[in-house]
Amino acid sequence: MTAIYLDYNATTPIAPEVSKAMQPYLDHLFGNPSSSNALGQAAKSAIQQAREQIAQLLDCDASEVIFTSGGTESNNHALKGVAAALKHKGRHIITSSVEHPAVVEVCRYLEKQGYEVTDLPVDKWGMVNVKDVASAIRPDTILISIMHANNEVGTLQALSDISQLAKKHGILVHTDASQSVGKVTTDVKQLGVDLLTIAGHKLYAPKGIGALYIKSGTPIENILHGAGQESGRRPGTENVMHIVGLGKACDLAASKLAGQQTHLFELRNFLLEELQKQVKCEMIIHTPLENSLPNTLSVAFKGIPAHELAATVRSKVSIATGSACHSGTTSISSVLKAMGVDEATGRSTVRLSVGKYSTKDEVRKAALYIARGIESIQENRK
Ligand SMILES: Cc1ncc(COP(=O)(O)O)c(C=O)c1O
Repeated sequence: MTAIYLDYNATTPIAPEVSKAMQPYLDHLFGNPSSSNALGQAAKSAIQQAREQIAQLLDCDASEVIFTSGGTESNNHALKGVAAALKHKGRHIITSSVEHPAVVEVCRYLEKQGYEVTDLPVDKWGMVNVKDVASAIRPDTILISIMHANNEVGTLQALSDISQLAKKHGILVHTDASQSVGKVTTDVKQLGVDLLTIAGHKLYAPKGIGALYIKSGTPIENILHGAGQESGRRPGTENVMHIVGLGKACDLAASKLAGQQTHLFELRNFLLEELQKQVKCEMIIHTPLENSLPNTLSVAFKGIPAHELAATVRSKVSIATGSACHSGTTSISSVLKAMGVDEATGRSTVRLSVGKYSTKDEVRKAALYIARGIESIQENRK
C-alpha cells in the first residue's frame, strides 16, 4: 500500500496530461530552439506556445514571461535583478518575516552587498498589515517582495492593497506565487505586481522548471550571463521538455481553476472536520481558513511531537512538520515563530496539504490514521 499523500505543498506528482505533452520532447523532438532547422523550429514554437499558456493563466503578455529553473531562481532573479538595476535610486527593500528561504536568503545576501532590508512582522494568522508596509516605506525603498501565499500555513496576503500603496510611491512589487499559482487566481493585473514567481513542481509540472513574470518596462538586470535566449534575459539552451510541461500544467490550471478551488476547499474542510471528530487531544489551527490556500491545513496536536507523529503514520500517510530536527534538538520554523507560536505548539505542528488527486475517501482514512497515531503515542507514554 502506498501512503496517502497529504504533502502537495512540498511537491505534486506530474499530471498525466503534462507527461503526455512532454513525451515527444523526450523521444524525438530534440531540436535546439536556436537552430534554424525543422527540429529547432519545432522546439522554438513549443516554447512560444508554453509562454502563451502561462501568460493566459497570469493575464499578461507572453513577452513578459521568462523561463527559469524554478521558484528559487525566479526569486533570485527578481530580487537581485531589481536591486542591481535600481541601486542608483535606493538600496532599501521591504519583505515579510514569513517568506520562503528562496527570498529570505537572497535578502541576507543583498544585505552583505550594502542593501538594507526591512522584515515586516505578521499577526497570529501570518498576515502582513498593510499599515506596517506604509510605515516601512522610505524615500530609498526600491522593492517590496511579499509572498502571495505561505507554503507552511497557507495564508494569502493582501497583495493588491500592498501594490496600490507601492504604486503611489513608485516602488516595484514582487510576489513569490510558487504556492498559489494553480490553486487560486493569480491575475497579475488584479494583484498589481511587477514581478511574480512560478515554481512548476507545485502545480503538476516537473521539478527544476519555473517562470518569472516581469511586467514590460520593469528595470531589471540579468543574474546569469551568456547567449541571447529568453530575449537576452536568461541565457542557456532552453529546457524545452520541461517548459512544455509547465505550459501544459498552466493550461490545465487555467481551464479548471474554479472547480479545483472548490474541490480543494471542500476536501481541506472535510479533513479538518474528520480530525475534529476522531482526534482525542486539543487541536490548535494556524491556517486562517477563509483567507488561505484552499488546500492547506496547519494544525498542532497539543502535546504530540510532530516528528514522532509523522514517523508513526509514515507508512500510511505522508505529512509535513512545522519544525526541523538538527542533531537531536528540534527548532520550530521561522514562519511559526513569526506568527508568535510558542515552541511547544510549534513542535507539535503538522502541515497537511491536499491536491487535485486527493479523494474524500483518502482524506477520511488519513484522519483516522492520524488519530490512531496520536492515540498510540499517548498510550506509549503511560
Ligand atoms: C513559497 C515558495 N517559494 C519558493 C520555493 C522554491 O521553489 P523551487 O523548489 O522550485 O526552487 C518553494 C518551494 O518549496 C516555495 O514553497
